[in-house]
Amino acid sequence: MFNLGEPLVVPDVFDIRSLHALRLGGAASDEWRVKEQTVNSDFERFQTGAAKYAAYLETPEGRLRLDLAFANLREFLPQPTHSLQALDVGGGTGAIAVRLAALGVRVTLLDTSEPMLDFAERSAQKAGVAEKITLKHGDAAQLANLFPAAWFDVVVCHNVLEYVEDPCAILRSAAGCLRDRSGVISVLVRNQAGEVLKAAIKDGDLAASEHNLSAEWVHESLYGGRVRLFAAENRQAMLAAASLAVTAERGVRVVSDYLPLSISRNAEYERVFELERKLGRRPEFCAVARYWQCLARRGSDVKGA
Ligand SMILES: C[S@@+](CC[C@H](N)C(=O)[O-])C[C@H]1O[C@@H](n2cnc3c(N)ncnc32)[C@H](O)[C@@H]1O
Repeated sequence: MFNLGEPLVVPDVFDIRSLHALRLGGAASDEWRVKEQTVNSDFERFQTGAAKYAAYLETPEGRLRLDLAFANLREFLPQPTHSLQALDVGGGTGAIAVRLAALGVRVTLLDTSEPMLDFAERSAQKAGVAEKITLKHGDAAQLANLFPAAWFDVVVCHNVLEYVEDPCAILRSAAGCLRDRSGVISVLVRNQAGEVLKAAIKDGDLAASEHNLSAEWVHESLYGGRVRLFAAENRQAMLAAASLAVTAERGVRVVSDYLPLSISRNAEYERVFELERKLGRRPEFCAVARYWQCLARRGSDVKGA
């Protein structure tokens, strides 16, 4: 168990509803309005769909993504020479935050969705780790204004860059939150190559498979909204722009989405998990997984690194 320090004192809660109203008030051109409508529907999906998302995390697919991502992150957590502080950007229902807190890490979970934060609060209480988790309502686009620079030992950015307007800017700000080069950032995003295979193998949709070879967005099955895809070259450019140095890359869900029905996802869960752990470490399988996870550290050209 790590030493426990003082909880992080974060600035006042940022009121996302005011920001939202401000954005709408400033909309002038039709193009801007269309863009705002898309942003609004992205925003709405996590306001009204929190229960749906929590239920998804209970399915074998949701559990597997979560368990694999957490196992990968755990391998690279810094050695605790002091009480570790983590920031979970777009932390949703708190599934990762609760696990980190159970290891003794103090976690600040930032999210724009109050219903998601309500779920996170309940699960932290249920797990008996509420005192280790600070819930913060706010927009990741404002990261630099919300937290002191270079404060956190661990930054988690899982399944959120797909939904923001400017993932590069958010990743750069998230990297700036890392204390120094001993800290680790874990990024988990939807892999474009995985969507190509999924469309062909799982959906039997050859046209969609071909389209996904170069698509920036696809429709996701859970909410029906759009979700951004990350191709290998974009990921590398994004990491470089954020001055992050890659420690490890992992594929998450390489084959589990395509297993025949004769293999029970529940009864065989542990075996599938172990197989996925092995596949995800190997670059040839990582390249085509549904999700790409990267564990990285601040590069030397970041101020203070
Ligand atoms: C797909 S969920 C992922 C939740 C969690 N990270 C996980 O992996 O289970 C995306 C989360 O990001 C949040 N989110 C979306 N855009 C955000 C933004 N600009 N700032 C902060 N949170 C955001 C949503 O409210 C939602 O809780």
